[in-house]
Amino acid sequence: MADKLIIFDTTLRDGEQSPGASMTKDEKLRIARQLERLKVDVIEAGFAASSNGDFEAVQSIANAIKDSTICSLSRANDRDISRAAEALRGANSARIHTFIATSPLHMEKKLRMTPEQVLEQAKQSVRFARNLVADIEFSPEDGYRSEPDFLCRVLEAVIAEGATTINVPDTVGYAIPELYGNFIKTLRERIPNSDKAIWSVHCHNDLGMAVANSLAGVMIGGARQVECTINGLGERAGNCSLEEVVMAIKTRRDYFNLDLAIDTQHIVAASRMVSQTTGFVVQPNKAVVGANAFAHASGIHQDGVLKARDTYEIMRAEDVGWSANKIVLGKLSGRNAFKQRLQELGVSLESETELNTAFTRFKELADRKSEIFDEDILALVSDESVTSEREQYGFVSLAQQSETGEQPRARVVFTVDGVEVRGESVGNGPVDASLKAIESHVKSGAEMVLYSVNAISGSTESQGEVTVRLQNSGRVVNGVGADPDIVVASAKAYLSALNKLQSKADRVAAQG
Ligand code: KIV
Ligand code: ZN
Repeated sequence: MADKLIIFDTTLRDGEQSPGASMTKDEKLRIARQLERLKVDVIEAGFAASSNGDFEAVQSIANAIKDSTICSLSRANDRDISRAAEALRGANSARIHTFIATSPLHMEKKLRMTPEQVLEQAKQSVRFARNLVADIEFSPEDGYRSEPDFLCRVLEAVIAEGATTINVPDTVGYAIPELYGNFIKTLRERIPNSDKAIWSVHCHNDLGMAVANSLAGVMIGGARQVECTINGLGERAGNCSLEEVVMAIKTRRDYFNLDLAIDTQHIVAASRMVSQTTGFVVQPNKAVVGANAFAHASGIHQDGVLKARDTYEIMRAEDVGWSANKIVLGKLSGRNAFKQRLQELGVSLESETELNTAFTRFKELADRKSEIFDEDILALVSDESVTSEREQYGFVSLAQQSETGEQPRARVVFTVDGVEVRGESVGNGPVDASLKAIESHVKSGAEMVLYSVNAISGSTESQGEVTVRLQNSGRVVNGVGADPDIVVASAKAYLSALNKLQSKADRVAAQG
């Protein structure tokens, strides 16, 4: 019998720590529903003690999701652990994931604690957590750069206190596959009670080896849980990518001989949802979920694939959900068809009012665009003016003039706390003029660090999806806006980023 490999998704926690990727409670809940559909075993929903917003997000996910275990991160202290347990109270199956750094560098420079103090705090925290929840994961942060002797003492002690999963993070992405695999193997061999816990891998991608390191941790080290994120989202170069690790295990079952619960047909939808929510565009040549991942341009390849698919294809596009990319609705589609498609896409709008607003937007879009794809619908419901609780800024309308040889000019009407205001400005181009028009009124002083436009579906009739990344007082946020008019999409994206700057104000640093 093959062993089961547990898939632990941390898109909503470690993925969200990526600069600009912060998500609202509603956005997190929507992604959590998609992860449940994907049959992810464990969803790390957030870091409950880091902010009231994250507490509420973990709580709403714990209350809504029934089939996956819901986990909250917490530092190794009683307050964080109690907050996590409280947020998880409604979960069918709850896990607390507590961590403390164990590498000499982190203990001395960051925590300013002696190894003995760290050992005591780790033990005490697991003991405390174990009284609240049965399923406890412990992570020695920067574990891969820790002294093996000390790490063995800490891990043996926390297993004795009741930790049920031991996760070995390569926090800074320093590992090499063979070395990381052997590191875990040695820990498991040296720690007398190692068989009382499930071993887990958590790899960052700084050297582009997060997936390879994770797979080595599984094959050489004997880990049976992989921590990963959709699209490899995460701090710096990101985390191990869920779609890559899952498809490697499935495609090369002859080698790995491991079972997975994942329903791979939902992978592409999950990838799109995360990309559209965070504004992190997926590169076309990204394995499994990139637009070109199954496209054959060369004549020789095309000819081969037409004669026998497996000449050049090792996976089937439809097995990861590419065939779901079909024209779904048009301007004659009714409210029921729209509602049903939303359900199929896993989008549940909270109220009839939200559904009506979304349907009106859909009809407006269908008047301007004859074919409506799943991506269009997801972009439409990602629009804050449809789904969210009241945001500070909302788009109303835009007028702009541009002519070769003349300076473009724009007027934008938008709401501030429900009251309509207008801003006017000139700029280098119509987009620049529109954003300056908003800024002339808001005066946020935020610096724009990224502006990108992406066509949602293939043609010039497509909606433009704009991502705007703003930085202010050390905070970085992404705003996303979609519209067939890219100037309007840009204004929406800018307002969405301003809203996020506002709501992010009360967060604390995730790792301390
Ligand atoms: O990378 C890391 O060390 C982490 C831990 C908190 C598990 O994300
Ligand atoms: Zn991490």
